[in-house]
Amino acid sequence: MSQAKVHTVTLIQGDGIGPEVTSAARRVIAATGVQIEWVLMPAGAAAAETHGNTLPEETLESIRLHKVALKGPLTTPIGGGFRSVNVALRKELDLYSNVRPVRSSLGVTEHHKPINLVLFRENTEDLYAGLEQDIAPGVAQSLKIITEKASTRIARAAFQWAAQKHRHTVHAVHKANIMKKSDGLFLQSVRKVAAEYPQIQYKEIIVDNCAMQMVMRPEIFDVVVLGNLYGDIISDLCAGLVGGLGVVPGANVGDDCAVFESVHGSAPDIAGKGVANPIATILSANMMLRHLGEEKAADRVQAALTLFLADKSNLTPDLGGTATTDQLVDGILRKLDLLK
Ligand code: NAI
Ligand code: MG
Repeated sequence: MSQAKVHTVTLIQGDGIGPEVTSAARRVIAATGVQIEWVLMPAGAAAAETHGNTLPEETLESIRLHKVALKGPLTTPIGGGFRSVNVALRKELDLYSNVRPVRSSLGVTEHHKPINLVLFRENTEDLYAGLEQDIAPGVAQSLKIITEKASTRIARAAFQWAAQKHRHTVHAVHKANIMKKSDGLFLQSVRKVAAEYPQIQYKEIIVDNCAMQMVMRPEIFDVVVLGNLYGDIISDLCAGLVGGLGVVPGANVGDDCAVFESVHGSAPDIAGKGVANPIATILSANMMLRHLGEEKAADRVQAALTLFLADKSNLTPDLGGTATTDQLVDGILRKLDLLK
């Protein structure tokens, strides 16, 4: 028998519930038999104390070298303090495409309509460029940066994926009626890419209407391409449709590297209690397995998770249960065992 490949993956455990949910995901991957050598690297407030930097160069170097990372959430101080390490990481590594699949098929909630959509969120610019200043007493300014380059490449990522997966519609989300220049440029860029894919239906929707339609008629959405801020907000809205932040995974993908992480943050309200839902991180790790070419293992994890959720037992409190993170993982591992 040929020797199984060993993958080397950078691991950022993260703050708050980060260490709890990333170790849960590691337990599930280990049970699949896929061999991963984890390279633990620092980031965030803890790294500032030990390395004098919230995003040490050696962490970036590790991801550049191994090309793949699994990441727990990192806390960002509100209103002041250091800038978001999550945003910095995505910009430094040019992880321009934030891919977030949202599915009701997990069966966590009884939504009246099936939801199976994928958000492609631009990940490097917009109001997250962090260009802010006080321009006069009582007046502050944040600059919204939109470029043709970044808008075109996120659109291309969305359409390429849609074409590969035989998806039928791409919606571009905007507010170009008000932000005629910035969102106007975003739309112009997406339209050019859309013209290259005549087999895919292309639609545009204004962001506030999009929020309402997502709640009322989520089944009309298939692939959705959005700027950074709208993508951030609509992601959490979509999570709310399918069982909450505990179940929605994500990937930050660039041309060279990919960093896999959940949509949720560090959840300080439940951190350290052992009750965080690890499913979002397990699914992010599963996207990583597929990225690494470990399709069979990823299919098994997906099947085990489906079986586990069908039982509606051993669920964490966010899903209406009383189980701990570890008990939920034990439940998934029992199903994985059955699928050997
Ligand atoms: P959050 O996503 O951490 O939490 C929002 C709510 O969802 C909380 O009630 C929390 O308990 C719940 N929740 C989130 N994940 C859960 C899980 N796995 N299981 C069960 N319940 C879960 O958002 P919040 O409170 O706005 O942000 C907290 C911190 O996280 C902030 O410092 C923020 O900047 C950071 N953050 C980091 C992200 C990242 O690293 N990619 C993403 C989002 C926020
Ligand atoms: Mg967010």
